[in-house]
Amino acid sequence: MKNTHHDIPPALLQALHQARRVVVFTGAGVSAESGIATFRDALTGLWSRFDAQALATPEAFREHPDVVWGWYEWRRAQALRAKPNAAHRAIAELARHVPELAVVTQNVDDLHERAGSARVTHLHGSLHAPRCSACAAPQAFAAEHPDEPDGGRRIAPPACARCRAPVRPGVVWFGESLPAEAWNSAWRAVQACDLLFSIGTSALVYPAAELPQRALASGATVVQINPAATPLDAHAHHNLRGAAADVMPRLLAAAGFGLAV
Ligand code: OAD
Repeated sequence: MKNTHHDIPPALLQALHQARRVVVFTGAGVSAESGIATFRDALTGLWSRFDAQALATPEAFREHPDVVWGWYEWRRAQALRAKPNAAHRAIAELARHVPELAVVTQNVDDLHERAGSARVTHLHGSLHAPRCSACAAPQAFAAEHPDEPDGGRRIAPPACARCRAPVRPGVVWFGESLPAEAWNSAWRAVQACDLLFSIGTSALVYPAAELPQRALASGATVVQINPAATPLDAHAHHNLRGAAADVMPRLLAAAGFGLAV
């Protein structure tokens, strides 16, 4: 096969070979090729079709719990149907070739885990970990949910097994704090890393978007993989333009890390 990794800079490969602690910071773009919509892409992003304020805030859940629960059940059904793609698999494989690798994701799906990544920190929670909206007790889903129509339908949230208050999705909503344990562990990993990949994120949502900046400030090499420009372009050491499921396997192949392209 002809050289398919001509766009992977040698300096990046050198940084990868020398890296001892790697952080892979991901956003919705890493799951795009698994069929899970991103948030801010102009035509296909969730926030171009749906009103975030009406679906992803504590106020929305208080006012219309059935609309919000139904919308998240639709997204959960979509995530359950989705399969990890070549980017998730390449990230899991990369962990076998560097001394230490932590995945820090803004995604609420579990595709990194299903691809085999062992250390995954979820900054924005999970579609698969509902909890009580009052007493915060973790809850189980009654059963795997059947397919939901596009955008979901109104579904009354179940009642907490302990206190009977409505169960809420285990995700972080606008106006809420990130789970402290996840944030602290991500921050520690980023402070200590010598190489950070920022993959498939618009790098617009804070505090998550602070992580690549923190890595830059502590002297790490920062590599961005995204088909579109983001505010991180001006600061990253390397910007690889393209889909994560295309670039990541080529990067591993170029590094000699054994994934056939
Ligand atoms: P966004 O939708 O803001 O950004 C997705 C990014 O992925 C964009 O920069 C796209 O260019 C890029 N992208 C699209 N397809 C891609 C592909 N195939 N490969 C690689 N990149 C691709 O999603 P996030 O940055 O994850 O928060 O958004 C951050 C947070 O905002 C989310 O976690 C969510 C949202 O509101 C909460 O729900 C709390």
